[in-house]
Amino acid sequence: MNSLNPISLKAFNTFGFEVHCHELYTISDKSELNTLFEAGLFDRNPKIISGGSNLLLTQDIKEPVVLNRIKGIRISEETNEHLSLNFGAGESWHESVMYAVHNNWGGMENLSLIPGCMGAAPIQNIGAYGVEIKDIFQYLEAFNLRTGKFEIFQLEDCQFGYRDSVFKNEKKNQYFITEVCLRLDKTPTIRTQYGDIQAVLDSQNLTKITIADVSNAVIQIRQSKLPDPAEIGNSGSFFKNPVIPTEQAAALQKQFPSVKCFPQNEKETKIPAAWLIENAGWKGHRRGDVGVHTKQALVLVNYGNGKGSDVHQLAKDIQEDVRQKFNITLDFEVNIW
Ligand code: EPU
Repeated sequence: MNSLNPISLKAFNTFGFEVHCHELYTISDKSELNTLFEAGLFDRNPKIISGGSNLLLTQDIKEPVVLNRIKGIRISEETNEHLSLNFGAGESWHESVMYAVHNNWGGMENLSLIPGCMGAAPIQNIGAYGVEIKDIFQYLEAFNLRTGKFEIFQLEDCQFGYRDSVFKNEKKNQYFITEVCLRLDKTPTIRTQYGDIQAVLDSQNLTKITIADVSNAVIQIRQSKLPDPAEIGNSGSFFKNPVIPTEQAAALQKQFPSVKCFPQNEKETKIPAAWLIENAGWKGHRRGDVGVHTKQALVLVNYGNGKGSDVHQLAKDIQEDVRQKFNITLDFEVNIW
């Protein structure tokens, strides 16, 4: 739709920021991409939104905005052990997880209650509670905005890293993801090692743990720590956990024994950004109608009438303060427009 009147994007970003555009297109079938391509729309640097859950809108958008609403779930391959499930990129991530859990197909349950849609999940290799999408990823289909052709990206083509993929680097803004294929287990492996999952399950005295139990435990933990975007605008973790030289991590832990360190390899260690932000004094900090969440310091929030530019400024101030206090640079996890 092309409109003379400004179109609000408030409903399309989980921060709930009132930002406008003048051209908004909804793709619900992949054939519509060809039509927009023929019309030359993709030559005008379009902005693609799916769930809008990893997005900070700081200003009105001059370019066309395209919503990814491609739906559908189908089984493309099945053996005695596995199942290849293909999801339309506009399917809700959490509803897709619930669909798999309901059928007792294992692999997605630790990723319950993550906001957003299927198509955005591989872009930042979403992860939680010891699992990343790369662990169950088989391939994806994407429309090349420059050539107008559909392409398949296998696991190795995606170059997945911690909250990272080829779609955030050399192939940034060049593709519209249409379908994601995940490989799920018919005999699920239960993964409860991360954080509080086992403790939550222990308190329930279950005789046999199912993936539905793991999913419920993850939902319970997330609900206790993370704000529901329907109630308080947010985009989950605003920053990535920094990976620093192990020597620097050891020195930090000597000075602050409470900091948790997660070795990544022989040379690098991941440090919780939430610990750094909390210990720099920012947890629960409120500035007008935006702030740092009271229960998880990694999450920045919009209490109602805040602006994206206020969150951006707050994030930059936190970044600078953490750099000064700990000599560690925090990178943003969210996309800033
Ligand atoms: N911590 C603090 N203060 C806080 C919160 C946490 O010091 O306010 C410290 C604690 O030491 C805690 C550690 O940070 O043990 C880790 O906390 P948590 O398990 O809550 O996870 P996180 O590292 O803060 C990451 C992901 C989340 C994911 C959780 C659980 C990133 C950037 N974030 O957070 O992902 O849900 O682990 O697996 O990797 C997201 O990406 O949007 C997201 C929410």
